[in-house]
Amino acid sequence: MTPVINLNGQRVLITGAGGNIGSGIARRFAAAGAEVIAHHHHSAAPAKALAEEIRGTTTKADLTDPLQLQRMIHEIAPVDVLVNNAAVQTVRPLKDTTAEDWREIVDTNLNAVFALTQAVVRTMIPNARGSVITIASIEGTHPAEGHAAYATTKAAVLMHTKAAALEYGRFGVRCNAVSPGLIGRPGIEEQWPEGVARWRAAAPLHRLGTPEDVGNACVFLASPLAEWITGQNLVVDGGVSTHPTW
Ligand SMILES: NC(=O)c1ccc[n+]([C@@H]2O[C@H](COP(=O)([O-])OP(=O)(O)OC[C@H]3O[C@@H](n4cnc5c(N)ncnc54)[C@H](OP(=O)(O)O)[C@@H]3O)[C@@H](O)[C@H]2O)c1
Repeated sequence: MTPVINLNGQRVLITGAGGNIGSGIARRFAAAGAEVIAHHHHSAAPAKALAEEIRGTTTKADLTDPLQLQRMIHEIAPVDVLVNNAAVQTVRPLKDTTAEDWREIVDTNLNAVFALTQAVVRTMIPNARGSVITIASIEGTHPAEGHAAYATTKAAVLMHTKAAALEYGRFGVRCNAVSPGLIGRPGIEEQWPEGVARWRAAAPLHRLGTPEDVGNACVFLASPLAEWITGQNLVVDGGVSTHPTW
């Protein structure tokens, strides 16, 4: 029987694929039959090991450098799906945040998403189809203490997603966001036991998310099952955001 989601023949670029969630997204796309291009910046070894495991390829760029970004697109285009996953998650109270801190986060989490999406969509237009998925966060709608700059960029990429859907839809390109809640990673239980316990108590589904949970949402949004869905934000948080905020 034909699988419900079959991405055979689709080329998918995943940024930050050497990281925690990026590698889970890559594994789920590969499981759906897609050809994965695993982007990395510093994490060359994990990205290469991942690419070997899922029979994909790697590409390298500092996404805050327009020249590196353009060179990467020139080397790998065309792609059918872009997952904007790379980001920095600096924690610093607003009163201590410097202009340089702010610029670095905005350059990586917002400006690179704008620039990479624009560059990739230009290569999708001749085929009149494509899908862009941007990893936002539940903090894009509800900030956490010390995460002001990060949360601001995630709110901004949610609006960028809607605006991009509005303008790129006429070219057959769909743009959606996925907003994860707390996603587990090796060592998190030891490093932050009280946070993990609080999350488990608050989440109606009583567990942390996995990188694959995020990957499953991305695969769905990239697939023909979502062909009439654009400009949306799919929240993947085990139900935490069902709580009243007052
Ligand atoms: N962890 C969570 O609970 C959570 C919750 C909600 C949303 N998110 C979002 O999920 C995404 C992945 O997060 P994660 O937890 O997996 O973080 P992570 O392991 O730190 O991965 C992020 C990746 O972004 C890449 N990156 C950062 N700056 C870059 C730059 N200038 N150029 C190119 N690549 C750059 C890094 O690549 P290199 O390592 O190769 O340098 C890194 O591997 C992010 O968008 C994050 O905001 C995470």
